[in-house]
Amino acid sequence: MSATITQGNTLPRLEAPVLLRIDHVGIACRDLDAAVARYQQAFGLTVVSQEVIAEQGVREAMLQVGQPDGPVFPGGPASWVQLLEPLGPDTPVGKFLARRGEGLHHVGYAVADISAALAELAPKPFRLIDERPRHGSMGASIAFLHPADLGGVLTELVEPAAG
Ligand code: CO
Repeated sequence: MSATITQGNTLPRLEAPVLLRIDHVGIACRDLDAAVARYQQAFGLTVVSQEVIAEQGVREAMLQVGQPDGPVFPGGPASWVQLLEPLGPDTPVGKFLARRGEGLHHVGYAVADISAALAELAPKPFRLIDERPRHGSMGASIAFLHPADLGGVLTELVEPAAG
């Protein structure tokens, strides 16, 4: 049995998908506390993590969508809204806000093994922003793919922390 499915003359598509599910959507905001309050009031979402990630120049909050008291496990059913406030104007999110204003910043997809995912994606015709994984929210390992090759959507791969 073939390990790949071929569509016409395009590149082979893997039978086992690299992307397991949508993990989170990242939303750029100017005022994190106001944005958190907006999502809590509008949808009753719960903040499950709030942290400063200096390496990425952001202060952020993760709000869980669905099953607030249910199980959270890699590849599992939970997903999040990630609200991102820049630590300064010269950070990536600060520049995004200046250019595009508040709104959807990136989409994060869960993967089982981020190093394996990067190795698999590296030969494909789009650019990796991160050739090696770095630290993300809630102990995850993450890597970004360049939006220019993905229809303008900054795309993040997320290997959730184990346990
Ligand atoms: Co993210």
